[in-house]
Amino acid sequence: MTPPDTGTTAPPPDAGEGYDATPYLPRGGGLAAYRRAAAGCRGCPLFRDTTGTVFGAGSDRARLVLVGEQPGDQEDRQGEPFVGPAGRLLRKAMEEAGLDAGGAYFTNAVKHFKFTTAPRGKRRIHKAPSLRELSACRPWLDAELRLVAPDVTVALGATAAKQLLGSSFRVTKDRGALLPMPPARDGEPPVPGGLVLATLHPSAILRSDERDTAYAGLVSDLRVAAQALD
Ligand code: URA
Repeated sequence: MTPPDTGTTAPPPDAGEGYDATPYLPRGGGLAAYRRAAAGCRGCPLFRDTTGTVFGAGSDRARLVLVGEQPGDQEDRQGEPFVGPAGRLLRKAMEEAGLDAGGAYFTNAVKHFKFTTAPRGKRRIHKAPSLRELSACRPWLDAELRLVAPDVTVALGATAAKQLLGSSFRVTKDRGALLPMPPARDGEPPVPGGLVLATLHPSAILRSDERDTAYAGLVSDLRVAAQALD
């Protein structure tokens, strides 16, 4: 199999045991160059069963970045983040909170859909990414935040919050507050994502028994982000 031409020093697809996207990152360029390179990422095994990489979408001048966990079934099929039911709920909540979804940048902590297949039938059921997969994919998220350099980053749900704010962060306890963005690794400068605010994931709201209360919580947290951007 011929490796994809991504303009990187990437090893052949599926090479090696280590999980790490770093060798697949381009040496420079803007979001378009990173999106092209990410299409060939083999930094962890998740690419094998998916339609393709779902890179972030939106303007590199966005003042607001929203980070989810990973693409879902619809996102995997369409190649765009937040185009399924969770995305529709998120956009509705953003509008109610006074945030312009059209001007925002949407992305995920992990760029491939991880799933199990239902025993009967072909339905693909979301499976949470492992810590290894999250840390392998982190260089893409850091690059997106560096290139967009937003004023505010919203982490949607526990996975995105832990990815950006550390494994001890608890969304249930600490959501809705504007916090300084920490470094990705000890000893490095902070990731240039502006202030970071964690809130509930729209998919969790769709599954919740107390959907109205959870949705109101999401809108109220997003209002904090809207005020910070005013
Ligand atoms: N859930 C996410 O976390 N991201 C998407 O893009 C879609 C659903």
